[in-house]
Amino acid sequence: MRIILVGAAGKAGRAVHELMEARGHDIVTVGRTSGDVRCDISDPSQLARMWERAGQVDAVVSAAGEVPYAPLAELGGEDFESAWQQKALAQINLVRTGLDHVSERGSFTLISGIPSRDPIVSGAAAATVNGAIEAFVRAAAIEIAPRRINVISPSVFTESLDDFGDFFPGFVPVDVADVARGFQRAVEGASTGEVITLP
Ligand SMILES: NC(=O)c1ccc[n+]([C@@H]2O[C@H](COP(=O)([O-])OP(=O)(O)OC[C@H]3O[C@@H](n4cnc5c(N)ncnc54)[C@H](OP(=O)(O)O)[C@@H]3O)[C@@H](O)[C@H]2O)c1
Repeated sequence: MRIILVGAAGKAGRAVHELMEARGHDIVTVGRTSGDVRCDISDPSQLARMWERAGQVDAVVSAAGEVPYAPLAELGGEDFESAWQQKALAQINLVRTGLDHVSERGSFTLISGIPSRDPIVSGAAAATVNGAIEAFVRAAAIEIAPRRINVISPSVFTESLDDFGDFFPGFVPVDVADVARGFQRAVEGASTGEVITLP
């Protein structure tokens, strides 16, 4: 399959890239500062240019997104706005604008995260936008068939414990290699409208 992978240089993205390449897929990598195509997917004009350059694909995979973590009392409206723009709306726009660029039975796979279902202190913005992405995926699935759409919702990555581990006390982490397998399942499998929780 020809797969466009947004966030290919990130922790999760690198693992997805490695696995999908090993599976024999042709990967077009995307990031703001590196990749075959440079694009900030939160900017609609850059997104339009990305599709012009990328052309037709069989699968769209996103392992991108940024969300502020802070106690609720310290999170301002601008933090929720930024989380929405950078993680939720950016991925929603990736799907909306990608519909004409994905093959008839192609797929979209987005990324959310565990705070939408298991609240953590300082995770209100993450929980809010991750929940929005998961709701969008369920809603979009019934409108875009036979194209498919799913979302990977991982716990904290083992590889991110040094940075974020304190926010997730007692949580079972997930290796990025297993996150990559979740993406593989979504891309090569047959499910749609699914929130794939990991581990
Ligand atoms: N880390 C964790 O423990 C964890 C757990 C659950 C869920 N998640 C979610 O998983 C996703 C990936 O996390 P990660 O730790 O792998 O992040 P990361 O290492 O910071 O990588 C993110 C990647 O996405 C790219 N990117 C970010 N914003 C972009 C944009 N607007 N347009 C295009 N590319 C963009 C970045 O490259 P450039 O900077 O070059 O654009 C980078 O390659 C995030 O949505 C995160 O919330 C992470």
